[in-house]
Amino acid sequence: MNLLNGNEVAKELKGKIKKAVEQLQQAGKKTPHLAAILVGSDGASMTYVNAKAKDCAEVGFQSTVLHFDANISKEALIQEIIQINNNPEIDGLIVQLPLPKHIPEKEITETISFKKDVDGFHPMNVGYMFKGLPCFLPATPYGIVQMLEHYNIETTGKHCVIIGRSDIVGKPMGVLMLQKNCTVTTCHSKTVNMKEICLQADIIIAAVGIPEFLKAEMVKEGAIVIDVGITRVEDSNHPKGYLLKGDVDFANVAPKCSWITPVPGGVGPMTRVGLLLNTLQAVQNS
Ligand code: GUN
Repeated sequence: MNLLNGNEVAKELKGKIKKAVEQLQQAGKKTPHLAAILVGSDGASMTYVNAKAKDCAEVGFQSTVLHFDANISKEALIQEIIQINNNPEIDGLIVQLPLPKHIPEKEITETISFKKDVDGFHPMNVGYMFKGLPCFLPATPYGIVQMLEHYNIETTGKHCVIIGRSDIVGKPMGVLMLQKNCTVTTCHSKTVNMKEICLQADIIIAAVGIPEFLKAEMVKEGAIVIDVGITRVEDSNHPKGYLLKGDVDFANVAPKCSWITPVPGGVGPMTRVGLLLNTLQAVQNS
């Protein structure tokens, strides 16, 4: 069993991004600048946004975090987004999800200019991705592809089973693995015979958000397993009061795998790099 070490790959890619920023600056171009909008005070969202700002500093990007109260109106939030769309200083904009219930995510996603949509959630970017054209790819699938390429994992002709059909991971992951010449099967909560399907997989990508969902009896010997899950599970013995659990029963699945991602330290750091790569791209496009 070999580990797909997201921390290590992310470190290497961040080094390359930092060099690219220096080259932009030497060529008299602007320093990439990411803006992140956070609404409310959800603990996980605040952690993610702070981590994104820290990543930006590490590679030499500028970043701005705009933090609004949970009861900001939809109209006021839309005005903030329009201002950023029109601000030439800012290259990339993300609005951290989930949003409070009174703000429809679809409307917000579609208000962000697709040219600054470094999350790749705008329908324009989704459409370009679907057709295999240059676009901003959603950060998690983008990061996973970068990791597979880093380790020279062969994908052509392989059967890739994706568990989960979310707009931001499962669905785009299927499209990208198809573009990498996999035979793709997407499983979800209504799938029958999930175990039998998973047992046929050369590559399994688990993105369901249920801790330890993928069990050893669902995995064929020698498979490659990518764990997108990162759920906080209460644990009073841990100083933070919670443990991070993936979607894979790692202790029992790992011995069967040729390659597997750990949690934490697998997909998470690669997702963060995906966002940085998109933000760099936003400047290189302009
Ligand atoms: N919430 C969970 N994942 C994401 C993400 O990739 N981008 C944003 N904006 N919010 C999220």
